[in-house]
Amino acid sequence: MKNEKLKGIILAGGKATRLYPATLETCKQLLPVHDKPMVYYPLSTLMLAGIRDILIISTQKDIERFENLFEDGSQLGLNFSYQTQEKPRGLADAFRVGRNFIGDDRVCLVLGDNIIYGERLEYMLKKAARKRNGGTIFGYKVSNPTAYGVMEFDQSNRVLSVKEKPKKPKSEYAVIGLYFFDNDVVEIAKGVRPSKRKELEITSVINKYIKRGNLESILIGRGFAWLDTGTFKSLADASEYIRVLEERQNCKIGCVEEIAFELGYINERQLRKLAEPLKKSGYGEHLLRLLK
Ligand code: DAU
Repeated sequence: MKNEKLKGIILAGGKATRLYPATLETCKQLLPVHDKPMVYYPLSTLMLAGIRDILIISTQKDIERFENLFEDGSQLGLNFSYQTQEKPRGLADAFRVGRNFIGDDRVCLVLGDNIIYGERLEYMLKKAARKRNGGTIFGYKVSNPTAYGVMEFDQSNRVLSVKEKPKKPKSEYAVIGLYFFDNDVVEIAKGVRPSKRKELEITSVINKYIKRGNLESILIGRGFAWLDTGTFKSLADASEYIRVLEERQNCKIGCVEEIAFELGYINERQLRKLAEPLKKSGYGEHLLRLLK
């Protein structure tokens, strides 16, 4: 049945030229953010939304690295697929590349470099995940909206439109790299034409849902962190933020093995197997402590 299940896509391609030479030979989404690869964070976001079927899209050169890291996903109780994007044609291309994977289902797209963290995150994600029709996007107040897709509101705070990297932003609310759509997104993405900067923009997809009156926009409050990793400075800031919180609270953020265990996807024996080889870094010790 159409729209029954919710699947997830992690878009993890692109060239990350702003991080050269660090990303000349590896890809950005596998760089560490404090103690784990960046991609663990968006993966944990999808897991907290209850998603188990996950497609990773990356470049021809890098897709193998993700396959080596996650294999078929069964060690985490997940089901991974992999596909390549030949060129970075734009975020909306994810729904074209991934159309067979999506099939008749709904889909949540998360950018492989987006880190979201906050107390009611799971509640918020589950709510968006339950919605059978239309789409859900999230807005976050930032100091530099021109770098993002930006929301425009009417007088009753409804989102009128979103604009990609506007010179004169109509609000301070950026659209974060996490999007929930029903199955219509496949058809909508097929019809998207390249923008002036020659990309298939995610904002074109979003605006289509707004026109249909079928988009929910959730504004995320101060209690949340949405962290950027696009430049050396923002990457270092994100690492520091995660390190401080993890050390202060003796917890792990974006710990996919822990989430799999908490959600009952893997048992104690499976968790121990994942933890043992990681013992020396302290990450594995954290996992072993969960067993005590
Ligand atoms: O982070 C949120 C922002 O992400 C949104 O506010 C914007 O509306 C959205 O367009 C996007 O803006 P960015 O400037 O961050 O997009 P960027 O081109 O940097 O791509 C984001 C990630 O997706 C990046 O890690 C590379 C990857 N990517 C990008 C494109 C265009 C792909 O894998 N394939 C692509 O075709």
